[in-house]
Amino acid sequence: MLSNQADGSKKRKSLHGHWSSRMAFVLAVTGSAVGLGNVWKFPYVAGENGGGAFVLVYLACVILVGMPVMMSEILIGRRGRRNPVATMKLLGEEEGSSRHWQWIGLAGVIAGILILSFYSVVAGWTLAYVLKSLTGAFAGATGESVAAQFNLFVGDWRWVTLCHTVFMIVTIFVVARGVERGLEQAVRFMVPALLGLMVILLGYSIASGSFGAGLEFMFTPDFSKLSWDSALDAMGQAFFTLSIGMGAIMAYGAYLPEETSISGASAAVVVADTSIAILAGLIIFPLVFANALDPAGGPGLVFQTLPLALSQMPAGAFFSTLFFVLLAFAAWTSAIGLMEPAVAWIVEHFNRTRAQAAVMVGGLIWFLGLGSVLSFNVLSEFTFLQGTIYNNIDYLTSNVMLPLGGLFIAVFAGWVMCRNSTADELGGAGTVYRFWRFLTRFVAPIGILFVFLKAVGLLPDLS
Ligand code: PHE
Repeated sequence: MLSNQADGSKKRKSLHGHWSSRMAFVLAVTGSAVGLGNVWKFPYVAGENGGGAFVLVYLACVILVGMPVMMSEILIGRRGRRNPVATMKLLGEEEGSSRHWQWIGLAGVIAGILILSFYSVVAGWTLAYVLKSLTGAFAGATGESVAAQFNLFVGDWRWVTLCHTVFMIVTIFVVARGVERGLEQAVRFMVPALLGLMVILLGYSIASGSFGAGLEFMFTPDFSKLSWDSALDAMGQAFFTLSIGMGAIMAYGAYLPEETSISGASAAVVVADTSIAILAGLIIFPLVFANALDPAGGPGLVFQTLPLALSQMPAGAFFSTLFFVLLAFAAWTSAIGLMEPAVAWIVEHFNRTRAQAAVMVGGLIWFLGLGSVLSFNVLSEFTFLQGTIYNNIDYLTSNVMLPLGGLFIAVFAGWVMCRNSTADELGGAGTVYRFWRFLTRFVAPIGILFVFLKAVGLLPDLS
């Protein structure tokens, strides 16, 4: 019976094609993971939460929760070989549980749509900053002028809407072209180029004079500053930056060849993603302190510090243009991953072509994105619960939907799927497997639930 299941899954083929090689898969998942989350969101959320202690919790979440959940998503995806909704349904039934697991897949589809609605807006900012850099708008910049420029720009909803629209059109176009042709090519050169440019920027940051202050801010944990809210922000950031908890990685896993090692691929992605986030912090915080900016300055942080630094470098306009082009590319490959669960689901479930599905999903996302566009200008005073519309969508997705999605994915892979199935996908029951299973069954679910309940105030303090 169990071996039949294993054999059954081996014969399954994905409807959408397969990755041409292991490298193509690792690049695609890295492309999805590395994006605005690392360069834009990590520094600003770390800054708002006081640095050190936040970074430590974030790193702990990446290793103890992120890594096992990522492996779980890939193995579930590869075993089901369908879109996340159908895969959860199929495996739920095959493992003798329930078809209702499909709702976890559907929640992921919705999370992807919601995240991309604001992600595309910020990606639009990067497009505008490409143009600004090209035209030398940052020449002779000061701390005040870059802040004023940023506020002026996001304050004009027409520009921001235009950029958001351009970004969505390009994304829809790539997604419509399909897995192999559309996705693989974009990631091959982007991540190494971004990394290279960031190392150059790090050199500049070290020379800025406040590198020590930046290091101290990031790595000296002061736990008195860490509330459970901040811990939830850190956990949400870990999920967001690794693209886990919503089925993006599961959808990519569906196209993964049988022989590829899941643990190896996951480790490579986690290391690449975390290094780029830390590198972004190491670049940005010294610049913040050197120019007397506020580390808790919010979503504009990167858009103020980097133009400032770049404007003072030789060939600054060139490097600045290059940087924002690469960031736009990084955002683009992440956006593709955010749309993939929804698109794959619509193709399979409603029998549409990829192009039709991409246009439908993309159109909806574009419309929802207007809420985030307006959060920075016309509707900036319109606040409820967590703040603006953008603040609420961000909180709902990063701090609620992704961690809870990850919790259910871990429970599914660790408790619902039988040992044979998971060991089969993870290449046998060795040490790595036992370690994964322990983290997936106990550490990840309990950790997620604990931080989440603490932050929303449902677990009382014991003292
Ligand atoms: N990980 C991406 C980033 O950091 C965002 C993302 C989240 C992409 C979830 C896909 C799925 O920018």
